Amino acid sequence: PVFGTPGAASKLRAVDLAALLDRIAGDVAPEVGRGAVADYIPALARIEPRTFGMAVAEVDGSLHGTGDWRRPFSVQSMSKVFTLALVLSRGDSVWTRVGREPSGDPFNSLVQLEHEDGIPRNPFINAGALVVTDELARHGDAAGALLAFLREESGRPDIDVDPEVAASEAGHADRNRALSYFMASYGNMRHPVPSVLDQYVRQCSIAMSCADVARSALFLARHGIRNDGTRLLDLSAAKRINAVMLTCGTYDAAGEFAYRVGLPGKSGVGGGILAIVPGRCAVCVWSPGLDARGNSVAGVSALDRFTTLTGWSIF
Ligand code: DON
Repeated sequence: PVFGTPGAASKLRAVDLAALLDRIAGDVAPEVGRGAVADYIPALARIEPRTFGMAVAEVDGSLHGTGDWRRPFSVQSMSKVFTLALVLSRGDSVWTRVGREPSGDPFNSLVQLEHEDGIPRNPFINAGALVVTDELARHGDAAGALLAFLREESGRPDIDVDPEVAASEAGHADRNRALSYFMASYGNMRHPVPSVLDQYVRQCSIAMSCADVARSALFLARHGIRNDGTRLLDLSAAKRINAVMLTCGTYDAAGEFAYRVGLPGKSGVGGGILAIVPGRCAVCVWSPGLDARGNSVAGVSALDRFTTLTGWSIF
C-alpha cells in the first residue's frame, strides 16, 4: 500500500491501517528496549523493557493493533486525561485552581508552585493532576469514578487497579506528598492530603492495554461523544483538553513532541502514550523504555512514523 501523502492517507482502508501498524512496529524495532524503565516506582522497574504495542481506535469503532497491543500495562499519567475530562464534564471550576500553560519543568517539579501561589501550571504535571483528583473527589471516590468510566468506554468490566503497582507507588510517594501538602498550605487542597494521594495513586496504577486506552479516549476524537453516543463534554471542552494535551501532555518535551508528532498527546511513566487525531481516531502506543523526560523512546518514534506516513497530524 502507498502511505506517505495526506491524499493517500484519507483513502486508507481498515486493512491498510493494520498493515501500517505492522510496518511501524518493524521500523521502530531497533529502538524498542532503548531508554530506561521508570525505577522511582519499584514495581515499574521490574517490567520487561523489550515490549512494543500500538493500537488505533477509529471514530466508527473499528480497532487495529500490532505487537503487545492487548497486554495490560500501568497507565500512570495517561489517567490524567480522563480525570480532567470527568472533572470538566461537571463544570469548569477546576480552572480557578490550576493553569493551562506548559511548565517547561519535569513532571514532578516543585519549583514553580512557590512563586505562583500554589496554583500548578497545568493539569498534567503531578501537582496539577493532584488538584484535578481533589476536585473530582468532591463528587465521591475519584478513582472509582474513573474506573467506572474506563470500564464502560472500553467495554472491559475487568479493568482494575494493579494492587502491586499501587502499593509500590504508595510506598514511594514522598514527592507527590510534598507537592500536595505544599499546595494545601496555599489553600489549594479541598480534602485531606492522604485521601487525595490514595485516590491519585490508584488512578495511576490502573492497568489497561493499548486497545483499552485507545477505545476509552475516543470521546476526544469525537469532539466529546462517548462510545454509547451520549455526550460527555461539549465541543469546546473537548477541544480544550486536546489543546492542553498538545501544549502540556509530554511535560518539558511538549515542544519536541509537537515538532515530531504534531498531535495532542499524553504520556505515562509506564511507557504508554495516548495521541488523538481529532475527527478520526485515538492512538495508544506502549514501550516501557523512557527518555530523560519520562516519555517512551520507541513510543514517540512510532507516533512520529504514524503521522509522517499517514499525514494525520493536526498541522
Ligand atoms: O505520580 C507519579 O509520579 C506517577 N504516578 C505518574 C507520573 C507519570 O506518569 C509522568 N509521565 N510521564
